[in-house]
Amino acid sequence: MQKTSFRSSHWFGGRDRDGFIHRSWMRGFPRDSFDGRPVIGICNTWSELTPCNAHFREIAERVRRGVYEAGGLPLEFPVMSLGETNLRPTAMLYRNLASMDVEESIRGNPIDGVVLLCGCDKTTPSLVMGAASCDVPAIVVSGGPMLNGVFRNERIGSGTIVWQMSEDVRSGKLSMADFMEAEVCMSRSPGHCMTMGTASTMAAMVEALGLGLPHNAAIPAADSRRDTLAQLAGRRIVEMVREDLRISKILTRKNFENAIRVNAAIGGSTNAVIHLLAIARRAGVELRLDDFDRLGSDLPLLVNLQPSGKYLMEDLYYAGGIPAVVRELGDLIHRDAPTVNGKTIGENTRDAPCWNRDVIHTLAEPLKPRAGIAVLRGNLAKNGAVIKPSAATPRLLKHRGRAVVFENIEDLRTRTDSPELAVDENSVMVLKGVGPCGYPGMPEVGNMPLPRKLLERGVTDLVRISDGRMSGTAYGTVVLHVSPESAIGGTLALVQDGDEIELDVPARRLELRVSDDELNRRRAAWIKPAPRASSGYERLYIDHVTQADEGADLDFLAGCRGAAVPRESH
Ligand code: FES
Repeated sequence: MQKTSFRSSHWFGGRDRDGFIHRSWMRGFPRDSFDGRPVIGICNTWSELTPCNAHFREIAERVRRGVYEAGGLPLEFPVMSLGETNLRPTAMLYRNLASMDVEESIRGNPIDGVVLLCGCDKTTPSLVMGAASCDVPAIVVSGGPMLNGVFRNERIGSGTIVWQMSEDVRSGKLSMADFMEAEVCMSRSPGHCMTMGTASTMAAMVEALGLGLPHNAAIPAADSRRDTLAQLAGRRIVEMVREDLRISKILTRKNFENAIRVNAAIGGSTNAVIHLLAIARRAGVELRLDDFDRLGSDLPLLVNLQPSGKYLMEDLYYAGGIPAVVRELGDLIHRDAPTVNGKTIGENTRDAPCWNRDVIHTLAEPLKPRAGIAVLRGNLAKNGAVIKPSAATPRLLKHRGRAVVFENIEDLRTRTDSPELAVDENSVMVLKGVGPCGYPGMPEVGNMPLPRKLLERGVTDLVRISDGRMSGTAYGTVVLHVSPESAIGGTLALVQDGDEIELDVPARRLELRVSDDELNRRRAAWIKPAPRASSGYERLYIDHVTQADEGADLDFLAGCRGAAVPRESH
């Protein structure tokens, strides 16, 4: 049964004063533009300050073409754009604010369905969260990854190479001149980070959730097939409006379970945990931190991409993309889960070929066994913490060591390279004050730089623990998202230099080896730090942000508020 009357008719359909006002001010559209056509919002995160999304005007034009072809009326609108590299103090602080912008822009305007143009890390979750809280038909078009970075005939991946090379410079293995030369070789086309960082991970999550067309994640931004996909999405959203295929019909529990499994198989970013939890809460789907461990941690790593492997997103596309990964996962995927093109994910991927088994491995011969994200608990993380074993050093996954504590990132920056720092290869680096409330905004600093004196001795990894996040492009034995965070009095706040910490990933344990009596004494003496903002959005954020294990959304944004037509004001 096709819909023939749309919410936009409440603006444009009346033969009265209000209809006059709404149509007249749109100016320039032929009168029949508004007759019985679905209005499609093109939600654009274009910004020159978000370089990963700087090509979105061209993508929007392709979407517009498709919408017109299918008989819809495309209307593009801007929303807050979050550029990971430029936005301070951290783009994550604004994910929830941008999601509010998206939600209210959709609900308050004559929009029947929406195409979400996403790219850089936080633009994907913020747009999907906002759309999920509105529940209109929605389809995601990702901007696509950059072409492979190439430096002296070697692949170099966004972010990953920066972490590697900056440590090589600090240890004296690489000259500053070489470091500067690599800078221009890494980012050489439009698009987002081309490692399996957070942007690529979230684009893959979009595909696994069924919110994007097949191959949405991996087609490079510079490939003409990205334009084709955008145009097809423009056509399809018009059909979705007519079919009333709203986002709530796509975001089922099965779709989230598929996303968790795909994230494990691709070696996806730990940030996917926080973003999927937040999206699920908006959609009203019951999803918990432990689901990531239960559903994903036993899965092998199939995709050989940096930072867990060696290839990049361009290679993944040529090898068969996410459809080939989903097909390889077989019955581990709910094959009857719905997707935006009206077919199930099983139907979409049934015949998906793999063209390169060194990029996409088989389940029988994976790149690494049991590589999905593990959830840790213990007195140091009562509500949980996460680690990505595929990016860690295997021998450190079971480790006891003495804490070297940094109270905040300024303390870390000041003392990491100090010759006086009491640290050795068995130490456990602990960073406080970088959680959702404490920083505020939970920055990507959990992969703390290793102390220079250890780098010079050839040490390549240490256990690192914090209440912050880590870039999806980063690697190491890094425990993240410790909850409750230090700023609200989690046990992390009580750790002192020299305390023994036990990490046991196989047993899923993270323990501070200090007696309960001593911890109680320290807790009684602990003074809660003053909030870092007294007014403005930052204060709103501090007062309402949830902990990492609940998605770090604002507490009052949970749930779907629908897209009922608001009151007329004229
Ligand atoms: Fe934009 Fe990495 S900085 S995706």
